[in-house]
Order: sequence, then structure tokens, then C-alpha cells
Amino acid sequence: MTPVRWREGTLEILDQRRLPAAEVWLRCARWQDVADAIRTLAVRGAPAIGIAAAYAVALADDRPAAAVGLKAARPTAVNLAWAVERALAAADPLREAEAIAAEEAARCEAIATAGASLIPPGARAMTICHTGALATGGVGTALGVVRYAHREGRLREVVACETRPLLQGARLTIWECMRIGLPARLIVDGAAGQAMRRGEVDLVIAGADRIAANGDTANKVGTYGLAVLARHHGLPFYIAAPSSTVDRATPDGGAIPIEERDPDEVLRIGAPAGARASNPAFDVTPAELISAWITERGVHRSASDLVR
Ligand code: MRU
Repeated sequence: MTPVRWREGTLEILDQRRLPAAEVWLRCARWQDVADAIRTLAVRGAPAIGIAAAYAVALADDRPAAAVGLKAARPTAVNLAWAVERALAAADPLREAEAIAAEEAARCEAIATAGASLIPPGARAMTICHTGALATGGVGTALGVVRYAHREGRLREVVACETRPLLQGARLTIWECMRIGLPARLIVDGAAGQAMRRGEVDLVIAGADRIAANGDTANKVGTYGLAVLARHHGLPFYIAAPSSTVDRATPDGGAIPIEERDPDEVLRIGAPAGARASNPAFDVTPAELISAWITERGVHRSASDLVR
């Protein structure tokens, strides 16, 4: 399972909007095609959009202009700007994109290995959005951790929040869990508190789109609510992310740009014509609600250790 592949001078993107109903590969011959795919979530997940954007730089004639356009596609995941800058600075952007993809896969492996040690025997792990292979190009971040815990015989169940409005949890996390043989159960986002209250969850683990220098962490909208609920119920709340998601230049969560998406994504399931909606794609979980950050360097119990 890979989100992108380079074939004969074009970037092919597995269209995640169509999953799980259909496996359709989009052929992107121009950087603008890749920017569109990122904007419309054909490719999504912080590491994966960074990888796709780095390949897109390799497609461009005017690389500085492409870099500006690609970075503007989605504002919250810092991996996007980070990978574009790396490709732009490289003598051979294609080789650099390949190197970024390989490094992200290696980081996932290290995250999964380090994080699995935190998962107790028989654990039921709640997660949100989708943080697996299609979001990273490797084994995943949060999903990689539970995958390795399962391999080591300690995971009882993934409890996946469906992740309104675009249902990455329902469509992608459940699909990937089924493909790799992870026991998983889907709940509506609003059922998370009740599941914790009933003692059906042992920990929460999520990915990240940007981690500020003080540890405040932006991830899919709804993550903050899970962290508050976890604290109330005395459950550990973990963030799993590669170092490419840590943004030392952003001092705290208040400075993280939060993408506001089309209100129609919220309204189209049946709101009356003329209804209004807001649609922030991410929220910020303050560092004090995070038990530990898991990166390729290990388990960090404090933000100062994380950014060291
Ligand atoms: O809007 P999306 O689907 O790109 O949001 C993705 C997330 O919030 C993920 O949790 C995050 O990017 C980490 S992916 C390993």
C-alpha cells in the first residue's frame, strides 16, 4: 500500500477520495495536478502530502513558482513546506523526493517500534482520522504503533473514530485495518466519551500535522476533544509523528495556521439549503494534555525533550 508512485516521468497518486469503493490511480504530469490532488485530499496525511509535493517540484519547469503554489495547497501540515523546501534546494529534486519518501518510511518503522512498547497487553486503542500506510508511505505513525503492538500480541482492538466530515477513519482506517488483519471497531465521533466512560478504551493515540516548539499539537479536528476526554477518564493520550512534523519555528499552538475548508463538506449530508457551517480541518491539543510524543528518536515525555 503506497500513496504515490513515480512512473515514466509522472507522479501517480492513489485517489484516497475514492477509497474504499474503488482503487483509482491519478496520473499527474504537471505540478499543478499534484497541488490539486493535495487540495482535494486525493492524497492526504502530513507525511504523504510532503512526499507528493517533493515529487511535484521535480515535475515543474519553474520550480520556485511551483514551490509557492504547492505550499499554499494546505496550510497546516508543516511536512508540506518542509519537503517542498528540501526538493527546491536540491540539485536533483527527483532524487530528493525519493530520499524523502525512503526517510519517512524509515521514520515510521522507528516510531512503530518505539511506540509499541507503550501499548499494554490486551489494549484497546482509540484513534482518529487515518495515520497508516496511505498517509505516510511507510507502516504509519499512530496506526504503525498499534500495528506493531498487534504483531507483538498486545493489541486487543483499534477503536476508530469515523472522523467527520470526510470520514478518513471510517473509509481509510477501517479499510487498512481489515487489509492488514488488525481487529478494529468503528464508532461515530460523538460516541468517544461514552466508550471511555464504559471502560472500553485503554489509551488514545493520534498522528499530527504540526507540532509547535512548546509541544502543542495540531491534528484532525476532534483530536483535542479526545485529549480532554482522555484526561477526564485517566487514560494516556499519545501523539505519534516523525520529526518532519515538528516545527521549531512555530512557538505554540496559537501560531499554527488552521485550514478552513469548504462548508459544503459539512452541510452536504443533509443540512437544509441555505444553512451555514464552519469547517476547520484541524484543532490544537495543548501540550499539557499529551502524555508523550513518539518520534523516530523514541518516546518523549516532555516538549523540551521532543525539540532537543
Ligand atoms: O485532512 P487530512 O486527512 O490530511 O488529515 C490528516 C491527519 O489529521 C493525520 O492525523 C495527520 O496528517 C497525520 S498522518 C500520519
